[in-house]
Amino acid sequence: MADIIDGKAFAARLRGEVAEGVAAFRAKSGRAPGLAVVLVGEDPASAVYVRSKHKACVAAGMESFEHRLPADTAEAALLALIEQLNADPAVDGILVQLPLPKHIDEMKVIEAIDPDKDVDGFTIGSAGRLATGQDGFVPCTPLGCLMLLRDRLGDLSGKSAVIIGRSNIVGKPMAMLLLRESCTVTIAHSRTEDLPSVVRGADIVVAAVGRPEMVKGDWLKPGATVIDVGINRVAAAEEGKTKLVGDVDFAEAMETASAVTPVPGGVGPMTIACLLHNTLAAAERRETIG
Ligand code: GUN
Repeated sequence: MADIIDGKAFAARLRGEVAEGVAAFRAKSGRAPGLAVVLVGEDPASAVYVRSKHKACVAAGMESFEHRLPADTAEAALLALIEQLNADPAVDGILVQLPLPKHIDEMKVIEAIDPDKDVDGFTIGSAGRLATGQDGFVPCTPLGCLMLLRDRLGDLSGKSAVIIGRSNIVGKPMAMLLLRESCTVTIAHSRTEDLPSVVRGADIVVAAVGRPEMVKGDWLKPGATVIDVGINRVAAAEEGKTKLVGDVDFAEAMETASAVTPVPGGVGPMTIACLLHNTLAAAERRETIG
């Protein structure tokens, strides 16, 4: 039976460390680190995320500036808000919740964010820095996955890692992070041929495809470490109820792997903890550079 990787407990520790860092920052600078979160429209899942981010910020002693805009907000108005946040000295980090409504060019909006305030790590500059091994903001979900892997395995050098999913938010930055750790990295995706046998070669599996329970136990190398990024809502056994499952068949993976993250309670809580971590880092960097 595999161990369950407790992301919730790890995230609580990390949030505690950030709160201590925030207290020290406030004592030194006389102000709190500030995070601005922008939500356009009423997507219910996004609204839940934004509320959680706000609560976590306040609990860590940070300032949280919420900007909720109607779904029909013009792109120019959103860009003007970003300009205003870029110039605001009380704002250290800017996060625009994705997805944005279809009439808005997402990449254009992300690129408008000051790279020194890009705590999501989504700008081309941040992606480029990560890809070329320079210091910069790393997207929160893959950063959280890396922290869990390091905590579990220590040195990752030489290990074979398969990432399933090639998104800009998770798959690609995860690959860059694991490459930086000297893993041998494969990015698999929907067109990969014979995915089970590709996954079977991996010491580390990161599943980020958004397909409920796709990765089966017999896809896994015995003793593998499995990080499940998926959050999928599916029908539960009980009539009319739903439940959350990951991209990995958890019960099957527990029979073959050596460690598995659960859903919920694995990667999910790490994302917000890493956002706080990045926001504190942004504040410290701005305070040092001036
Ligand atoms: N939508 C889903 N995940 C994320 C995230 O990590 N950051 C932002 N800004 N939007 C998201």
